[in-house]
Amino acid sequence: MTITSDATPELPGEGSVTDIAPEQALTTTGDEWWRSAVIYQIYPRSFADANGDGMGDLPGITSRLDSLTDLGVDAIWLSPFFTSPQKDAGYDVADYCDVDPLFGTLDDFDRLVAEAHARSIRIIVDLVPNHSSSEHEWFKQALAAAPGSPERARYLFRDGKGADGSEAPNNWESVFGGPAWTRVTEPDGTPGQWYLHLFDQSQPDFDWTNDEVRERFRGILRFWLDRGADGFRVDVAHGMIKEDGLPDYTPPAEGGSMGGAGGIDPETGEQIELPSAPYWGQEGVHEIYRDWHKVLDEYEGERVLCAEAWVDPLSKMAKWVRPDEMQQAFNFPYLETPWNAPALRVVIDESLAAFGAVGAPSTWVLSNHDVVRHASRLALTVENPQGAGVGPKTPGKPVREVGLRRARAASALMLALPGGAYIYQGEELGLPEVIDLPDEARQDPTWFRTNGERYGRDGCRVPIPWQAGAPAYGFNETGASWLPQPDDWDDYARDRQEGTPGSTLELYRLALQLRRAHQLGLGGVTWIDGFGDDVVAFSNNGVTVIANAGETAVELPADLLDAEVLLASGTIEGAILPADTTVWLAR
Ligand code: NOJ
Repeated sequence: MTITSDATPELPGEGSVTDIAPEQALTTTGDEWWRSAVIYQIYPRSFADANGDGMGDLPGITSRLDSLTDLGVDAIWLSPFFTSPQKDAGYDVADYCDVDPLFGTLDDFDRLVAEAHARSIRIIVDLVPNHSSSEHEWFKQALAAAPGSPERARYLFRDGKGADGSEAPNNWESVFGGPAWTRVTEPDGTPGQWYLHLFDQSQPDFDWTNDEVRERFRGILRFWLDRGADGFRVDVAHGMIKEDGLPDYTPPAEGGSMGGAGGIDPETGEQIELPSAPYWGQEGVHEIYRDWHKVLDEYEGERVLCAEAWVDPLSKMAKWVRPDEMQQAFNFPYLETPWNAPALRVVIDESLAAFGAVGAPSTWVLSNHDVVRHASRLALTVENPQGAGVGPKTPGKPVREVGLRRARAASALMLALPGGAYIYQGEELGLPEVIDLPDEARQDPTWFRTNGERYGRDGCRVPIPWQAGAPAYGFNETGASWLPQPDDWDDYARDRQEGTPGSTLELYRLALQLRRAHQLGLGGVTWIDGFGDDVVAFSNNGVTVIANAGETAVELPADLLDAEVLLASGTIEGAILPADTTVWLAR
């Protein structure tokens, strides 16, 4: 068996990026680039900080674009950079059509788009339509207006229950903990109505049955499309419509905080069905996306919508990507699947079948800014519900080496699958979750709303390391950082990994090159049996992919011994595939 996992393959027919005129590369229609794209999520607060204030910014991103060309991604999804009081790290938007001074200016955005397009990288903007910030002009007008007014009708204001209206209109709980309703004081100083906020109280939910809300968002879409955005990741795309009458509802204990989390039972391989909430996955949301689809169609190039919709089962999620709705939906059932071969095989099958049934590509994702980084999550030894986070008192803390080994194997498996793939900044460096953030540094509203019972998501949001030994590991030049970075991150720094055989960064670079060269994103999965229960094995466009998710090494059959090893997530010796290792073979 030949080991060539560190070699860089020749890519047939690929011109260097600078040979491609940006407009030509990005506005051609008909290629449906999103079907196989690798999309890199940038969390602007934590990617790169040009002005040294400790908060990442748009000029910082622009200055680091070459690193993404080098990694080989097709597009960037930018988490929110809009005007915001930052109560939920920018997912509380006060002005949808401007850049918060923390991150720069609209000119900085335009420059970023131009520079990214010049490198054939598309830009996806985050759209937050379920709720605004309480600092949004409309919400301030609603508070100043009377019950029953058109200003209040843009949000979900209701009278309270009980003789004096002092009880919340229903029993719904906020995703971040605590009640989902807050009572306002009316302009005349008396205790008044209540407004709904599925998230923090600084994030009032819009009423999407209101035409004014719908028209405003069409305008917001056009604003960013006119500026060159290639599409939108749609926040809480399963939550915008609430069941008529807002009935009481108590979520099942096993449910994730954002809904879904039914997933696949790893023991039985069966789909776990959870009752659906009156605020998640209501049928009425689809009409909104059909409308937006038409807005995007007004533009040349292939602009896209990607749904953040935590719904189970996958056949329900696939409704978000019917031909006249969105192009992609994040595959959260895949993200939530444990490192377990039978469960992985079931979720891959179900994903390809469910999305395929509506003519859409599946997507694959393992990490984002809301979940425990998979280099830690996959080594947790105790169940950790989505949204809970991991901190000093969490039971079953991960062993770093085990987590990294599994993360590399899981990423190598994911990047071999047909469809679109999402990478969260830092996972290409093998970054673990930061578990021991001091309490006083934590900023996630979940932490505050649960009185520290849930750690929340700060541990996956720490600014990423670029340069070993440099202030803030090269995140900026001053050493400032809005969340403290651990002392032991030198070995994760990009400069240490660049060109280093066997580093996680080189593994990702190679995987993306091979994925493109063999068109794995456009291929299909043909299962290969016979490796035992701990192994996931398939072929895709002539590449054989074998992932050992078990605890013991597996001997590969004799007929594979002549194969060329294109990529390996760990060290392969002879025909032995170690535990927690994925290999790609060419035969
Ligand atoms: C999902 C986003 O990904 C998360 O970060 C945010 O807190 C909620 N939606 C509310 O906008």
